[in-house]
Amino acid sequence: MSLFEKYGGFETVSKVVSELYDELERNDITAPYFENSDIRALMDHQVKFLSQVLGGPQQYSGKAMSAAHTGLRITEEAFNTVAQTAQDVLEDNGVEDDDVAHIVGLLASLKDDVVQA
Ligand code: HEM
Repeated sequence: MSLFEKYGGFETVSKVVSELYDELERNDITAPYFENSDIRALMDHQVKFLSQVLGGPQQYSGKAMSAAHTGLRITEEAFNTVAQTAQDVLEDNGVEDDDVAHIVGLLASLKDDVVQA
């Protein structure tokens, strides 16, 4: 069974992504990056992206991570804040420690593509 199915599929992924963005919009380090974004479109992309990372049926067909973040000057501090917030939100939603570690590891592997400051 994929992690996607294990944790309730699309509904859980949507909830996690929505909570993650609520936190990131409240955080002084990350909020400025999202000021000019269409949050709904971004969340839709993120849900698809995360669903695919978790082995779900949704196909992410957006830009590659490096292209998606070009010009945004995302710092290592901002990346680490996003990764830490994702970890907190996953834990708050009952995702088991091993699975959280796996997902956070996947996110960490994208750091060099996302951090371009
Ligand atoms: C591993 C972590 C991350 C993943 C998986 C991720 C994923 C994505 C995806 C799927 C998109 C949409 C691409 C598209 O439109 O086709 C996106 C865009 C974006 N990401 Fe990330 N992201 C990550 C880290 C970050 C960080 C750390 C920041 C800033 C603190 C950030 C800020 C943004 C912004 C501002 C956009 C929208 C750009 C626009 O409005 O066109 N991302 N990200």
